[in-house]
Amino acid sequence: MALPSKSASHPRRDSPAKSSFSKTPLAAIHIPVLLRETLEALDLHSGLTVVDGTVGGGGHSRKILERIQPDGILIGLDRDPLMLQHTATVVTGERSHLCHASYRDLPKVLRELQFEAADRILVDLGLSSDQLADRERGFGFSTSGPLDMRFDVSQGESAAELLSHATSEQLATIFHEFGEERFSRPIAEQIVTQRRGSPIRTASDLVAAIDSALPASIKREARKEPATRVFQALRIAVNRELEHLEHALKNSLYESLRPGGRLVVITFHSLEDRLVKHAFRDETRWQCLHKKPMAPSPQEIRINPRSRSAKLRAAIKLPPITVSASPK
Ligand SMILES: C[S@@+](CC[C@H](N)C(=O)[O-])C[C@H]1O[C@@H](n2cnc3c(N)ncnc32)[C@H](O)[C@@H]1O
Repeated sequence: MALPSKSASHPRRDSPAKSSFSKTPLAAIHIPVLLRETLEALDLHSGLTVVDGTVGGGGHSRKILERIQPDGILIGLDRDPLMLQHTATVVTGERSHLCHASYRDLPKVLRELQFEAADRILVDLGLSSDQLADRERGFGFSTSGPLDMRFDVSQGESAAELLSHATSEQLATIFHEFGEERFSRPIAEQIVTQRRGSPIRTASDLVAAIDSALPASIKREARKEPATRVFQALRIAVNRELEHLEHALKNSLYESLRPGGRLVVITFHSLEDRLVKHAFRDETRWQCLHKKPMAPSPQEIRINPRSRSAKLRAAIKLPPITVSASPK
């Protein structure tokens, strides 16, 4: 799929980057998903160096930090500088470092912070409830703000820009592959028709295009589902989320972990889960902690419906196989 290329984001040591949205950070509303299961799988104790590759509002990190005291170190990464502003209010102290970077660039972050490797790594994919609720960023279909959807607005093109030039075929592929949307083709065609009259700039413009592409037989409540899937698909495409994950699983996350260390990944989409499942199948690299992925309990889903599609997979990094010299 022809999408514009992006350069690697540059990690900033210890300093949450200033957001290009000049806002005062509010307390995060995001509820950490599978928190108990994550902490168990990470098997935490004092003295560990733990990386939270997607620190978000710091929900998981705060609990991790408590469990690795007094000697542990937490390194939190996020592509979104605004989320790092939230995190800096809850993940504090000299035993934590917050960096504006993708987990894909973890080896570089560790080098810059002068750490050899991590003992534990957590990656909790997707977006946080705080990003979804932000009316100025276009992640949610019930907001009316500009359709941006980038985690990092200094990188790549916004969703509105993508919608302004992608062909109908490219858009249909995005909606079908990343959103599993059955009306991907008519929605893509409607977007291309609509943008000839006026550009699709806001979340409400896109909702209007999706709505007019759907058959009249689809009932009012059910019309929200295609919008949810199209918005998710666009976010995955704009941020190249699967590319970051695939590259990280093959290289950066494996390289950055000490042998015997643990990697825990929480996914929200079947394509993400497939990549993790496939990577963990390599028995020369990983020993899986569970036979099947862990899922939220009915009680967790009741309290936090956004957790319903979550899956957690965890594995221990095996020591590299050494080829011994043949006896003379
Ligand atoms: C589900 S939220 C994490 C929530 C966090 N675990 C908590 O409990 O508050 C996912 C976060 O990952 C960030 N993110 C997405 N892709 C990323 C990447 N490749 N590298 C670093 N952060 C990323 C998003 O900006 C978002 O803040």
